[in-house]
Amino acid sequence: MNIAIVGTGYVGLVSGACFAETGATVTCVDVDCAKIAALRKGIIPIYEPGLDELVVKNINAGRLKFSTSLAEVLNDQQIVFTAVGTPPDEDGSADLKYVLQVAKTIGENLNRYLVVVTKSTVPVGTSHKIADTIKAELKKRGVDVAFDVASNPEFLKEGNAIKDFMSPDRVVIGVDSERAKNILTKLYKPFLLNNFRVIFMDIPSAEMTKYAANSMLATRISFMNDIANLCELVGADVNKVRAGIGSDTRIGRKFLYAGCGYGGSCFPKDVKALIKTADDNGYSLEVLKAVEKVNERQKEVLFKKLVKAFDGELKGKSVALWGLAFKPETDDMRESTALVVIKKLLNAGCKVQAYDPEAMNECRRIIGDKIEYYENKYDALQNVDALILLTEWKEFRLPDWNVVANKMHRKLILDGRNIFDNDDLAEHGFEYHCIGK
Ligand code: UDX
Repeated sequence: MNIAIVGTGYVGLVSGACFAETGATVTCVDVDCAKIAALRKGIIPIYEPGLDELVVKNINAGRLKFSTSLAEVLNDQQIVFTAVGTPPDEDGSADLKYVLQVAKTIGENLNRYLVVVTKSTVPVGTSHKIADTIKAELKKRGVDVAFDVASNPEFLKEGNAIKDFMSPDRVVIGVDSERAKNILTKLYKPFLLNNFRVIFMDIPSAEMTKYAANSMLATRISFMNDIANLCELVGADVNKVRAGIGSDTRIGRKFLYAGCGYGGSCFPKDVKALIKTADDNGYSLEVLKAVEKVNERQKEVLFKKLVKAFDGELKGKSVALWGLAFKPETDDMRESTALVVIKKLLNAGCKVQAYDPEAMNECRRIIGDKIEYYENKYDALQNVDALILLTEWKEFRLPDWNVVANKMHRKLILDGRNIFDNDDLAEHGFEYHCIGK
């Protein structure tokens, strides 16, 4: 089977490499010539565990190719996936210009039947807009070529993307034609060996599923963060409450971790976009509006704790940050809590000394050299008045507390991900604050 994937971002590249791994011949397309040239040499623009090996392996096997022109490769394909960006507009709605540009190119060049599948997270109704755009272009050319559109939202998590793709909990596909359904069933057949389910549904429901899933997960996090803040006020411990409620199978144990707020490329963007879709349809999603508000407030919780610890006297203090990425195993800093904390610290006149195993280049790209970057976690602690942990990378979990204590000027630790042990820290003379207890 020949498939093309347009957009070599996170979703596109992972999907391309994984489909190639199952035996399909995949062409990944991107307008960014430099990116494509690098990819052809097996150089991957993002950090994702296992991705570089998989890409190189499939390039060498001749199953994974790259192109800068969809028009050139289009008529060799049975399926084209769009995995281009849908950045939020100023009003929070998803900007569809890249998605519709792909549709236009397809309409301008299509000569044989094709299934056009949307993998980018797009608002309900977009697949129909894609179909209309393709039809309009075909009409301009005066040709009559059959095609189908489908929606196949992606649920992969950064840092775990290959595993999520190869052994998904489920695959959701929205289709409105038997022909497209048969082709997509064939494409996903190799995965069926792993006993997961393909859930077919209508196109709008598939489009909605992605937003509803991410919004539900974001809701769980904001809910737990709200409960955590209340736990602090009433003397309860959110970790115990989490264990207590998570053992109810209706609630489940996952995604109940209180922390310093959710970030990333999906939750903040998708929650905003769904609120906007509802507003546009004359309905107000009150729960999601609160989810967003709670998350914005939560990103400031650690800074507020710091202000309290120093009685408001932060000017001239040095603060170490462990972790910059929005979560471990990625160098992605989109909507990361670190960006909020850094801004607040700099505005308050603090010096910031940061370390992250993967995200320091990305941080430098976004904010430049306003903060100091260190090559290892201990060096970043030299003479600081506080350490704030923002991302729960494995290497932060069991530090040598003697080394930490010797480096720090004031032994104050603010743990935004609840990974340290209070007793352990008290033994070493640290003052310790975390979330929700
Ligand atoms: C998410 C969805 O999980 C995925 O299905 C979708 O396709 C894209 O969005 P991702 O953004 O990679 O994936 O990250 P995820 O692991 O879900 O974490 C998102 C944020 O929530 C992170 O900032 C993380 O720290 C935070 N989080 C997660 C919590 O604060 N508590 C939790 O219990 C879980």
